[in-house]
Amino acid sequence: MQPLSPDELPDAVRLWLPSNATFEFPPQGQTSTLAFVVGAPIVVKRMRGAVYSSAAEWEHKALVELADSKLPIPSPLGLHVREHRGEREAWLCMSRLPGEPLASVLERSPDADSICRWYAALGDLAARIHATPIPQALRPDAPFTWLERVLSRTRRAGERVRNLVMRLARERPPDIPETVIHGDFTLDNVLADGDHISGVIDWGGAGPGDPRFDVTLALMGDGEGPIDARAVRAFLEGYCAAPIPRGLRRFFEQAYQMRTDPTAV
Ligand SMILES: Nc1ncnc2c1ncn2[C@@H]1O[C@H](COP(=O)(O)OP(=O)(O)OP(=O)(O)O)[C@@H](O)[C@H]1O
Ligand SMILES: [Mg+2]
Repeated sequence: MQPLSPDELPDAVRLWLPSNATFEFPPQGQTSTLAFVVGAPIVVKRMRGAVYSSAAEWEHKALVELADSKLPIPSPLGLHVREHRGEREAWLCMSRLPGEPLASVLERSPDADSICRWYAALGDLAARIHATPIPQALRPDAPFTWLERVLSRTRRAGERVRNLVMRLARERPPDIPETVIHGDFTLDNVLADGDHISGVIDWGGAGPGDPRFDVTLALMGDGEGPIDARAVRAFLEGYCAAPIPRGLRRFFEQAYQMRTDPTAV
């Protein structure tokens, strides 16, 4: 994709940036053009076409709705949507999080123990996302579950996956309660800084959904074959192992004692 030049900025977007802002460019994603403002922690993301500009609008909405969640996510600075040269175009400005994609860090990680530490932190992050209360504004109007929505989208997507989709539609896995999901929880969209995870970006697919989707994407690795079984275990421990606070544990123990003690009614 062509890098973004400051001349292309709509006036509305210019207003959110320092005057005479210049850009530098991170490795570009698949679906957007991105620029970092030099000297200010600001990212400008442009998405073109009806589908991608809607994704940018949704990403902005998700960032607004999750802004108070305490999740490590960019702060939304503004969204501008316009028709430009016969095409819909969305411009999203947000704060820049420190760090680089976890995928790059893992590629350089020297040993299995440090890879496991990263996966444990990733599991913990997934758990925090999935424990976030679902903002009302992110709930879809339609009465369908997330899986039903994905199945119907995928059915339209064509021949290639038709058999799998038809089988899934017939043998539906049991529903589990929907949670907030990120929806594109790959190692590219998680940023790492020094020895910790500094944030999650690219929230255009977020909303209520099946949390196992995020877990599956996180454990898909980089497409070069399955990830190490120890890393999977570390992730799942990070995902499930939030320790039960001591006071709560004692309360539960006592509640259980009372339940089984016939004199304590
Ligand atoms: N808020 C941010 N803070 C720091 N870096 C960011 C931020 N947003 C994007 N980036 C950088 O830009 C790259 C591409 O961003 P992003 O994933 O949002 O684009 P995309 O086109 O939606 O990606 P894809 O479709 O490939 O998932 C990221 O990998 C990251 O390096
Ligand atoms: Mg991305």
